[in-house]
Amino acid sequence: MRFFQSATALLAASGAALAAPLNKAKRTASAADIQTLQFLHMMEEFEATYYLEGLSAFSAADFSAAGWAIPDLVLENLLTFATDQSNHIQFWGSVLESVGSQPISTCAFHFEPVLTDVATWLQFGREMEYIGMGALMSALTMLDSPEMLLDVTNIVTVEARHQTLFNIFNGAEAVTQSYDAALTPSQLLAMAGQFITGCEIFPMDLPMVPQVTHLFAGMPAGLALNWTWGNATTQTVNADAFWCQWTSGTATDAVVQPITQCVSPAINGYVFAWITNSSTPLTTDITTQNVNNVVAGPAIAFVDSQKDILSELAVTGTADVNDINTISSAQAAALMGSSNGTMTTASGTVVA
Ligand SMILES: *[C@@H]1O[C@H](CO)[C@@H](O)[C@H](O)[C@H]1NC(C)=O
Ligand SMILES: *[C@@H]1O[C@H](CO)[C@@H](O)[C@H](O)[C@H]1NC(C)=O
Ligand SMILES: *[C@@H]1O[C@H](CO)[C@@H](O)[C@H](O)[C@H]1NC(C)=O
Ligand SMILES: *[C@@H]1O[C@H](CO)[C@@H](O)[C@H](O)[C@H]1NC(C)=O
Repeated sequence: MRFFQSATALLAASGAALAAPLNKAKRTASAADIQTLQFLHMMEEFEATYYLEGLSAFSAADFSAAGWAIPDLVLENLLTFATDQSNHIQFWGSVLESVGSQPISTCAFHFEPVLTDVATWLQFGREMEYIGMGALMSALTMLDSPEMLLDVTNIVTVEARHQTLFNIFNGAEAVTQSYDAALTPSQLLAMAGQFITGCEIFPMDLPMVPQVTHLFAGMPAGLALNWTWGNATTQTVNADAFWCQWTSGTATDAVVQPITQCVSPAINGYVFAWITNSSTPLTTDITTQNVNNVVAGPAIAFVDSQKDILSELAVTGTADVNDINTISSAQAAALMGSSNGTMTTASGTVVA
């Protein structure tokens, strides 16, 4: 759907406040700033449309039938997230206006492939919120204006909270890795682009990275996978000339596998899958990433290796709660990387 046709009507019906409390006084903007803001505005529309279409397609009864024990536990949060995205659209729109520009108004979003059932829609939300975070993280590498950098950080933290709750609503661990990993706009569009049309005047003139078959399901570690990218598949290419690679916040370099032996890596949490024509590992950091070897991707997936009491409760309404042992002071000291036995805390006290 075209964003403003039904989204604004739905938000008006839900009584959503469209306040934009962040400072948006008259500013100056570089060309890079304006392009980045237009990209962010479009990504916020993308996310808002996901919520509004799903929330109007599914009822609490649908969540219940799909196995969620307390549908309102999920739904009340998703309604809040929809309002957040709407506020962000208004905010970026007003910042663009304050620098004498305007959003791209011709984009349309098509979520039919993920509106088939509640489980698919919720799983995609988990991916989409990571893609939304990725857009803001990549903006930090593109913006010139310090005020806009601050705006981005004020919003990326909110998107990270959304993504965390989606992990929980999908029965996965809430916070899985110590680091998140940014992607470039063209890499983000390799994942989101299949849901977007009409942005032909999109000003960043991005080359689309070929998409790889999208992974909608959370998966266990060690799952064997066949891939499709462009008109190629795992089986049709020269098996000695292509590799499957996985980047995540768990390592600075990708896990590399021969294309015919591609399995989900032994990690927990988000992961990006790539097809390359070199066995040299991709670096995770987009500012140094050796993208010349990338033939297709990334696709985003989640490897669910660990359970979480909170998410079990959120999905099933009950959880198998075992005692969690806290740590000894020696273990605490070891975790802090100091010699064992003592640890200096933030307040300066020494724990023996
Ligand atoms: C991948 O494709 C091959 C050949 O069609 C097939 O034998 C294999 O079972 C497939 N593996 C998966 C994980 O689908
Ligand atoms: C695959 O696509 C490329 C260009 O996208 C084309 O050159 C090639 O002929 C296609 N191969 C097949 C088998 O269709
Ligand atoms: C590897 O793929 C990239 C991107 O498609 C391409 O530019 C490059 O020429 C390829 N290298 C080889 C050795 O095929
Ligand atoms: C301190 O660390 C050393 C080496 O890692 C270990 O042998 C020793 O048992 C530890 N002492 C305590 C009190 O944990």
